[in-house]
Amino acid sequence: MSKEGKMNCGRRQLIVATAAAGGVGAVTTMVPFLSSMLPSERAKAAGAPVEVDVGNLAPGQLLTVEWRGKPVWIFNRSTEMLETLAKLDDALVDPKSEKKQQPDSCANATRSIKPNLLVVIGICTHLGCSPSSKFKKGIEDGMPPEWLGGFLCPCHGSSFDFAGRVFKNKPAPTNLEVPPHTYLTETRLLIGEDKKGA
Ligand code: FES
Repeated sequence: MSKEGKMNCGRRQLIVATAAAGGVGAVTTMVPFLSSMLPSERAKAAGAPVEVDVGNLAPGQLLTVEWRGKPVWIFNRSTEMLETLAKLDDALVDPKSEKKQQPDSCANATRSIKPNLLVVIGICTHLGCSPSSKFKKGIEDGMPPEWLGGFLCPCHGSSFDFAGRVFKNKPAPTNLEVPPHTYLTETRLLIGEDKKGA
């Protein structure tokens, strides 16, 4: 591992899983990263920010990391995926994300700091199941013909677009939550803090 890739004492890099690219369903594999730590280290790590290298994340790829015991998706949306966002306002509960399910830095049309990179907690806002990737359009992914791509919660059918915004007439009340995060460099993402070096 290169120097840059090694763990920083205060900010342990906790990469947990990588999911598939190009519209293929996400596959998640958990890594038991806490088992080798002392109790005090474990407690610190449980609330610590998580630093992630996003430099190799290709368009269409989704990476899952764990932060505070929750799965956080880092999703590099392709241009085509981003183009779907402006077409969905009428179908969404909170298209402008006015219910504050994201930090101020992400209160915009893409719900992100970098337009292509969505950072969002992968837990359904209904009862906490983990939504699945449904990146292909319509019936190709077993969805209705008008489906443009996004996520589907397998528990009670809530669906979310590529910005984690929930569709109308579904049980989930709000958009997926965007955690505090910032970019330390062009490719180093820090999840858990809003400000660089805070
Ligand atoms: S937990 Fe997701 S729809 Fe109920």
